[in-house]
Amino acid sequence: MTRHQKRKIDETHVEEGHEDFDAASLREHEEFTKVKNISKIELGKYEIDTWYFSPFPPEYSSCDKLFFCEFCLNFLKRKEQLTRHMRKCTYKHPPGDEIYRSGSLSMFEVDGRKNKIYGQNLCYLAKLFLDHKTLYYDVDFFLFYILCECDDRGCHMVGYFSKEKHSEEGYNLACILTLPPYQRKGYGKFLISFSYELSKKEMKVGTPERPLSDLGLLSYRGYWTRVLLDIIKKHRGNLSIKELSDMTAIKTEDVISTLQSLELIQYRKGQHVICADPKLLERHLKAAGKGGLEVDPTKLIWTPYKEQ
Ligand code: ACO
Ligand code: ZN
Repeated sequence: MTRHQKRKIDETHVEEGHEDFDAASLREHEEFTKVKNISKIELGKYEIDTWYFSPFPPEYSSCDKLFFCEFCLNFLKRKEQLTRHMRKCTYKHPPGDEIYRSGSLSMFEVDGRKNKIYGQNLCYLAKLFLDHKTLYYDVDFFLFYILCECDDRGCHMVGYFSKEKHSEEGYNLACILTLPPYQRKGYGKFLISFSYELSKKEMKVGTPERPLSDLGLLSYRGYWTRVLLDIIKKHRGNLSIKELSDMTAIKTEDVISTLQSLELIQYRKGQHVICADPKLLERHLKAAGKGGLEVDPTKLIWTPYKEQ
């Protein structure tokens, strides 16, 4: 069953005892009754305030704070348990393959089927900062790309994105997160850029799964604007939406919506036409913020996922 089909079923499934609710009001009811349980977590050297509810197993629901092993992402109720765990834990980086390294930055690819517990722990953790996303326990269908800052103590997770092994809808990213202590430093744009580098290697265009959060949309808009306007600025001669999409792996709809929101596109005689006034481009580029941390595609060692 694909994720999409599963969601359809989940959406039409009505819980026992709630037969008179339709799916939408049931969801609303569930949202309303979900109380944010865990208010902070410890992860590596940080104590982090959480943002949203996450459905941890019932035995953890009365905890105010959880203690995570920053390497295997197991979570514990008490600091002493974590200290004991850290003495035994053999992980110093996420399980799976290191597919990118540049300076102290590394990316690891984790297969949810081969590392189920890690994948589930990551989903519990991520849901604390993701609002609209449904948590799926079938991590089998996902690959997780974990961004780490590495030093002599190990590789410390900064953020991640997940990606379906096969997406019918053409999604190249399911969920993205930069852990709060690392936000606003350009890691988000690095992760977004990385997801498009993977799509380029697959020779596909991609788009993030919807809905996007406010911060997600801001980050994507900033990324799309910078990438597209950099090309338009340098290009001489005609350039089509399709060419822009092929060069960047950004889906044509996202190219159009970005250019439309910047009022750089007009619809003339049944065709979209890009207007590229240099001064206007420069102004939009400035407003799009910093480029973020750059991905060096020559340092990506990766082949697209194939079922073994
Ligand atoms: N206030 C205003 N603008 C912001 C903020 C903020 N708090 N955070 C990010 N932005 C905007 C800015 O334009 C920023 O660029 P700039 O710093 O050059 O101005 C841009 O987004 C991206 O900044 P980065 O530093 O590259 O991104 P960051 O590492 O902070 O990660 C992310 C962005 C992943 C969206 C992060 O905010 C996050 O994890 N949020 C919580 C989870 C979430 O909402 N994820 C997206 C859900 S949608 C999906 O998963 C498909
Ligand atoms: Zn551990």
